[in-house]
Amino acid sequence: MKNIYSNIFSFNKKILHKSIASLKKGNVIGLPTETVYGLAGNAYSRIAVKKIYNLKKRPKKNPLIIHYFNCKDADEDVIFNADFYKLYKKFCPGPITFVLKKKNKSKIQTSATAKLNTVAIRFPSHDTTRSILKKLNFPLAMPSANLSSGISPINALDVSDEFKKKIKLIINGGNSKIGIESTVVSLIGKPKILRPGIIGAKTINKFLKLSFLKKGSKIRSPGMLKRHYSPGIPVLLNQKTNDKKCALITFGKKYKNKKDWFNLSKNSDLKEAASNLYKTFRKIKKQGFKKIYVVKIPNKGPGIAINDRLRRASY
Ligand code: TXA
Ligand code: MG
Repeated sequence: MKNIYSNIFSFNKKILHKSIASLKKGNVIGLPTETVYGLAGNAYSRIAVKKIYNLKKRPKKNPLIIHYFNCKDADEDVIFNADFYKLYKKFCPGPITFVLKKKNKSKIQTSATAKLNTVAIRFPSHDTTRSILKKLNFPLAMPSANLSSGISPINALDVSDEFKKKIKLIINGGNSKIGIESTVVSLIGKPKILRPGIIGAKTINKFLKLSFLKKGSKIRSPGMLKRHYSPGIPVLLNQKTNDKKCALITFGKKYKNKKDWFNLSKNSDLKEAASNLYKTFRKIKKQGFKKIYVVKIPNKGPGIAINDRLRRASY
């Protein structure tokens, strides 16, 4: 066991210093956040950003989220507006990402933002990653720590499985509590949700007026591509039961315990279901099933983000 996972470390003072030194050298490391684990590198370093894209095999036109300790740090790179302050005050640090205009003087690598004049910024709440961000004099470009179009990792072992020895340092920060990626909100022009997350439209609408993307409108966020979050085997939605060699993802207490049935939440709790989604995908794949069927999941609250990921996984 120890040998296989020799790149996973518990967090302490020594590892804090080692992480900082590694990031300063332009290396890429695995870090925990409250949503999912990330692959972190210096957003001001061309070499670090290049390493992130290469490791993930990520298309160059898909921009990265830039992570900061607080809004004072982010003020170096983006132009804030009234909507930003409203949401920042309410939800940060936390599982929400803001797309804002980039400042001309910003030092963020143009490759990290896919040459756009906008930047997606986030303030993660996980203590470990916050203590690293606090000590750096640059922000972290940090996509989810998985190969492009796959499912996000929610613990250090997932990250190690994904990249093997290609990353030398992954910090073990336990299981990510939320388990799906942050809500992405564009605050340029009329505010819009580009990627649903655990902080839903209904909640955000209490603080500002969201407008909604029209059906068939041009994709504004590259992460909105139809096929994404794929477990690598076929996923079929709105099923009632399963066939042989195929797993069934269920939700709620009416589904029994069967060895090929995987319940996202016996209590019909959509937040719990979201936190179990990727964990369940990985478990099913490891057990060698050839297909995943999924029952209908209620499309409200966190269910909206779950259904968004399921739809893309099934495409
Ligand atoms: O929860 C999260 O957000 C995680 C953790 C590690 O922080 N990160 C994450 O990063 O999910 P990634 O790279 O897997 O997804 C970033 C999303 C993509 O959908 C990308 O297209 C979008 O953010 N994005 C980044 N910059 C953007 C921009 N300037 N405009 C619109 N969308 C942008
Ligand atoms: Mg991702």
